[in-house]
Amino acid sequence: MAVKVMSTSIHKNSLTFFLGQNAMPTISQTLPAHHKHCDDLFSAAEEAAQRGQWKTCSEATGRYMQTMLAHFDAEESLLFPAFENATGMTSGPTQMMRIEHDQMRNLLGQLEVAQKAQDADTFSGVAETLLILMQQHNMKEENILYPMCDQTLGAQVEQLSAQLSARLAEA
Ligand SMILES: [Fe+2]
Repeated sequence: MAVKVMSTSIHKNSLTFFLGQNAMPTISQTLPAHHKHCDDLFSAAEEAAQRGQWKTCSEATGRYMQTMLAHFDAEESLLFPAFENATGMTSGPTQMMRIEHDQMRNLLGQLEVAQKAQDADTFSGVAETLLILMQQHNMKEENILYPMCDQTLGAQVEQLSAQLSARLAEA
């Protein structure tokens, strides 16, 4: 019996060795790609506003907002609770990220108001603040939180990455 258990364990280790750690999608691979997608949608909305193309800006701002809100929602409902359960850290990095999400939600609301009013100056001012916050926030997630998630979530990482991808693909 002991021999059988040992051979199963060796078999599993061999599989991991041959597949390698990178064979499964990690949080650090899945979510930064979606940050980039959000950045591209932001640029499209900002460019349209700068050119005074308000119809295009309205569509682009709508797409950008929808995608950002879906990203926040996916992190807050799937990723952050998993990290908090695994580590017991509920007032650490995830709390800070939730606060920053709320700050960005507020700015997205202001951006939509400026777009509807076709107010180029206000749109540009809000967009500038939003861009800085977005860049700082994404950097913290990509350099600190996502690697921590990959490290602490262990066997859950693959399934969670797939769930996040599926949720974000719907957005
Ligand atoms: Fe985030």
